[in-house]
Amino acid sequence: MKKNIAVTILLIFCIGNAFTQTKNYIVPEKMNWWYNSRFGMFIHLGSYSYYGHGEWCMYNENWTKEDYQNKITKRFNPVNFNAEQIVSLAKQAGMKYIIITAKHHEGFCMWETNVNDFKDYTGTTNFDLYHFLGFQRDLLMELKNECDKQGLYFGLYYSILDWNHRSQYKQNYWSELYSLEVKDSFVEAEKEQIKELIERYHPSILWFDGDWCEVKDSATTFYWWQKQDAINLQSYILSIDSTIIINERIKRNLGLGDFICSEEKIPSKPLERQWETCQTMNSSWGFDSTKINNYRSPDTLIHEIEAIASLDGNYLLNIAPKGDGSLCEKDVSNLLSIGEWMNKYGESIYCTTRNPFSTKPSWGFYTKKEGKLYCHITAPNYWNNIGYICVPEMQNKIKKVYELSKPEKLLAFKTNEKEHQTYILLKSLAKPDKTSSVIVIEVEGTPTEK
Ligand code: GLC
Repeated sequence: MKKNIAVTILLIFCIGNAFTQTKNYIVPEKMNWWYNSRFGMFIHLGSYSYYGHGEWCMYNENWTKEDYQNKITKRFNPVNFNAEQIVSLAKQAGMKYIIITAKHHEGFCMWETNVNDFKDYTGTTNFDLYHFLGFQRDLLMELKNECDKQGLYFGLYYSILDWNHRSQYKQNYWSELYSLEVKDSFVEAEKEQIKELIERYHPSILWFDGDWCEVKDSATTFYWWQKQDAINLQSYILSIDSTIIINERIKRNLGLGDFICSEEKIPSKPLERQWETCQTMNSSWGFDSTKINNYRSPDTLIHEIEAIASLDGNYLLNIAPKGDGSLCEKDVSNLLSIGEWMNKYGESIYCTTRNPFSTKPSWGFYTKKEGKLYCHITAPNYWNNIGYICVPEMQNKIKKVYELSKPEKLLAFKTNEKEHQTYILLKSLAKPDKTSSVIVIEVEGTPTEK
């Protein structure tokens, strides 16, 4: 009887949630570095950071352009922005690329723009750090140079909708044009800005947003950003630099750009092409002083990295500097904790591909690469009480099994051919990692389900 219960429990644990495995897609060559990186940093810094109620405050408080610029933008002064500190932190956390907001929905440009179409509410001064605020430093360049120095890739976020631009005003969650006649010149001006950004900062990624008005047969003042506009913009960008990676939010859900963006969500199964989950630590992208106690734990964030890698995705984790450019303590401490884990277990994340099996284990996640299957055990009861995990039988011959941080100590394993499962004994491992321990199953060839 006892045995039956054990077998039933075991079966439940081993089967877990089934998902359909999609066919492997080909990763285009220009995406290789990105695909292998798995983990990047998002930075939301704009004049909204001064107010400290998130990056949508202009919309949420229903401010006019004039009010917003006088109350908020004028007071923004990111003097304590420290590129060296930020890039070192990203590097310590194990991140391989950084995306920073060049222009968010508020329309404020975080660089000196010489495209004269983007003025403040008076229509006299370019609405950017340099002209509007007289800020002398080029923060994007400081970050770009530091990324080059420390070996990280650099990318820029750019919002297509622009609540400040004279062509449009905010309406619901989207911006509305005053008339359709102004569309072409606005779109041209944005192209010029994007060219300016590419030529000045040579970003590896352009990360668009604010594209989300519905797809219509033809543009209206409300649904003004349409598929053809995005196609034109995409080919324009690639004509300047064909190596740039573009996210799908150039106009989402139409197969444009190079990767799918999943916002604050982990898909239940691998997607049909490369994808990335962008994620906040505390449900706010821009600095929000009311959410400093809402931070999720580093363990939770690490489990998300593992879950996403097991589905072939990338994880873009946000930090929200304050209005003076300095970092929030929790952003820093969480990243340092993630870094400690990545430092030990990064091999099971970078350059890996997804779970090779048609089922997901209830004890955690799988990732794999040539010659190795990684079992990420996030559920502590498998170490403490159950004492083993089982893995679906593979076509590959198993060479040895060990815990990633203790390769010299081999673990016992046995394949039960009737059950099509291999049992890995964990009992001999005295001290599992409190976050997640990774067991390596070394095999001949690429791990493949039998
Ligand atoms: C949303 C929000 C925006 C945020 C972005 C990050 O589209 O509008 O504020 O920057 O998601 O993915």
